[in-house]
Amino acid sequence: MLVIEEQLATLGRVTSQALTFHREHAEAKEFDLVDIAESALRLHADKLARHQISVDRQFQGPAKATVFGSEILQVLSNLILNAVDALPRGQGRISVRVKSRGQSVHILVSDNGEGIADEFSSRLFEPYVTSKISGTGLGLWLSHRIVSKHRGTLRFRFSRKQGRSGTSFRISLPLAQLAQRNV
Ligand SMILES: Nc1ncnc2c1ncn2[C@@H]1O[C@H](COP(=O)(O)OP(=O)(O)O)[C@@H](O)[C@H]1O
Ligand SMILES: [Mg+2]
Repeated sequence: MLVIEEQLATLGRVTSQALTFHREHAEAKEFDLVDIAESALRLHADKLARHQISVDRQFQGPAKATVFGSEILQVLSNLILNAVDALPRGQGRISVRVKSRGQSVHILVSDNGEGIADEFSSRLFEPYVTSKISGTGLGLWLSHRIVSKHRGTLRFRFSRKQGRSGTSFRISLPLAQLAQRNV
């Protein structure tokens, strides 16, 4: 398949999956974040395989939150694609964890890439901050806005230590019943 065809196929899948979440749920609905995480990994399965990235899933569901499914899917998709960009071909590892703790549900996306350069780390959620030649610098800005709109937090940590470098993003959202009570 030509690269452009592959890109179109991916785009088609992203769009149709996103629409599935969107059409059925014009309002925020209760989702198990495990389902959204699985969907995001499915969307990018071909790319992850092409880049020889191994994926470690640790899903401790149910982790229910009242969300706009397509938006959280988009955030996860951004985080996974950023991780792919940060990873060297062949030795890359991504871990996606979903868990529910107390009154929050969490999704963590971690990679064993180089970590984040100091010049970017303090401004990561600002628009147009990118270290990539063809980056937009809008992915994390948008992701942060989406998570905040859901009354959640998007946090990250990273290490640049040789041999154990990596970056980890954590989306935390209110547990479903709590969110509903507050509406
Ligand atoms: N997992 C990651 N590892 C290393 N750097 C990252 C990671 N995720 C994001 N970054 C840094 O944050 C910047 C902004 O990311 P983003 O807003 O998604 O824009 P873009 O991907 O278009 O550059 C990236 O250019 C990169 O420097
Ligand atoms: Mg990005």
